[in-house]
Amino acid sequence: MQLSELPVCGPWGEKHLLGLERLTASQLNTVFDLADQLKDLTCDGTERLSLLKGIVVANLFFENSTRTRTSFSLAARRLGADTVDFSASTSSLSKGETFIDTALTIEAMGVDMVVCRHRTPGAPHLLSRHLKAGVLNAGDGTHEHPTQGLLDIYTIRRHRGRIAGLTVALVGDIRHSRVARSNIHGLVKLGARVIVCGPSTLVPQEIRQLGVEVAWSLDDILPEVDCVNLLRVQFERQRGAFFPSITEYANLFGMNGDRIRRARKDLLVLAPGPINRGVELTPEVADGPHSVILDQVSNGLLIRMACLSLLAKERRAGQRGVA
Ligand code: NCD
Repeated sequence: MQLSELPVCGPWGEKHLLGLERLTASQLNTVFDLADQLKDLTCDGTERLSLLKGIVVANLFFENSTRTRTSFSLAARRLGADTVDFSASTSSLSKGETFIDTALTIEAMGVDMVVCRHRTPGAPHLLSRHLKAGVLNAGDGTHEHPTQGLLDIYTIRRHRGRIAGLTVALVGDIRHSRVARSNIHGLVKLGARVIVCGPSTLVPQEIRQLGVEVAWSLDDILPEVDCVNLLRVQFERQRGAFFPSITEYANLFGMNGDRIRRARKDLLVLAPGPINRGVELTPEVADGPHSVILDQVSNGLLIRMACLSLLAKERRAGQRGVA
């Protein structure tokens, strides 16, 4: 299948994917519908997709990653693209080259799309102003992680068939979580009721302005919740102690067998990973029937294939001067 045959059903029109804050509900559904079609096309492994043939995708990761990086590389290759992997620790950054000069150098090798993860909020946005390539944000500090938000919401949609009307709890370190922010923007636009829950030190009051409810007790909200997304405590982004001990955190906010037994029978348990067994959730929950954590990983591949295809189509249209 060629890019021109790509079965896009809804609006897109974006050159970059920087965050879910600026996307509409229709654009979010365009990504999900395309991911569904890519799943159907690739499920028996016989359909060869060459949607990104001739396109070069560079992974520019200035922060560690397992899932996101591997999944972007695989997604690009499954669509026939060439991929380049850049790792900050082994680059000329250590010789004093700036972030922008590094990116311009990589782009000058004929790169069409850049996947960027950086500890500084706004770093991919800065790149998008300096590069001609399409830029995909793979996580910028505490700000956004759009493809993670998309794949979390897509996983819920695949299991429940809808998002509107569901109650979704985001539990954990809301203050430092880019995954929380992307989930909130997407879920609220699609009509979900979103409750953020965690220690009061890790749930800023201002988060209500994004259209969410705030709760301090997981036990209080659990009976009302359709899906719970367990966010990792972002120790690497914290300055100071936000709660007395890991054990106390796990007792109050960790998902365990007891809580599962008090929750809805069809509760979905999500976690973006990496998971810390015994902290955000016990092994019993992580490996139990409510967990869709590995589905999230598989769906991540489809979501990233969809996003890369949409950006590539936009880029080709731009190069041909088509609106
Ligand atoms: C998340 C991230 O890096 O923001 N992980 C991921 O991309 N799957 C969440 C986290 O690190 O806790």
